[in-house]
Amino acid sequence: MNWIIEQDNEDKKIQEEIIKQGVLPKHIAVIMDGNGRWAIERGLSRTEGHQEGIESVRDIVKASSQLGIKYLTLYAFSLENWKRPIAEVGILMKLLEHYLRQELDELHKNNVRLLTIGKSSSLPKVIQKLLHESFETTKDNDGLTLTLALSYSGRWDIVRAVQMIALDVRRGRVSPEDITEELFSTYLQTEKMPYPDLLIRTSGEMRLSNFLLWEMAYGEIYITDKFWPEFRRNDLYDSILNYMHRERRYGRTSAQIASQGEVNQNDSYIQRVINAFKSK
Ligand code: FPP
Repeated sequence: MNWIIEQDNEDKKIQEEIIKQGVLPKHIAVIMDGNGRWAIERGLSRTEGHQEGIESVRDIVKASSQLGIKYLTLYAFSLENWKRPIAEVGILMKLLEHYLRQELDELHKNNVRLLTIGKSSSLPKVIQKLLHESFETTKDNDGLTLTLALSYSGRWDIVRAVQMIALDVRRGRVSPEDITEELFSTYLQTEKMPYPDLLIRTSGEMRLSNFLLWEMAYGEIYITDKFWPEFRRNDLYDSILNYMHRERRYGRTSAQIASQGEVNQNDSYIQRVINAFKSK
């Protein structure tokens, strides 16, 4: 199904209104929390909560693509989630397998590129194979980049990056004084995507839960009390509108932002300013 053709007029109008309000976030990341609580409150099983959570995934992916968001990163399974009861881990893996089998075609037809971040070697072989097929099939798509964080943890990725830099130093490819924030970020699995502009977390919890720790240094956080299975496109629109009306200062003052617009975040600029003060 072509998502642009199937989109109803009312939704199109809402999206047009949103676009008029300001600059869309280029990258939205989501901590999809509350599947279990949503189910328990309704006397359902946790599995049913996860199943309904997949319906939210479908709607949010589609709405993001229709709206023209370039990057959507979903925290689908953390490294810590392996500690859940084995039966629940098995169900989540089955649901993931089913999702990949069922959605690949539709994602591809709608110009979505699928990627993952995380320790994929710890995933079941069948999922690794499906992921590999999905990357191959969708690698040239230039619409939405949908990244599933699977067996992922922010600290794990940072430690992995440090290990790789250390190896490059040992091999003589990098010298320690060349290690800057920019260089460091190229060793992370998120290397090819911009940092998230907006992180949405459902179910009212106020923490990052080891998600995109480095990348979220200046990302805006939006927390809603809704559980993930009830979070649908209109909630996404609310979060985007809320984001659009925030001022992102990256450590500067409001007056500077108003007069300069573009913000230079890199550390060579900061170092120049520090040096200027040192010599005074
Ligand atoms: C949090 O709910 C959700 C997860 C641990 C996994 C998210 C998974 C899905 C939405 C389904 C699979 C995803 C894809 C992309 C196919 P929770 O179980 O922690 O809820 P609780 O905190 O209320 O117990």
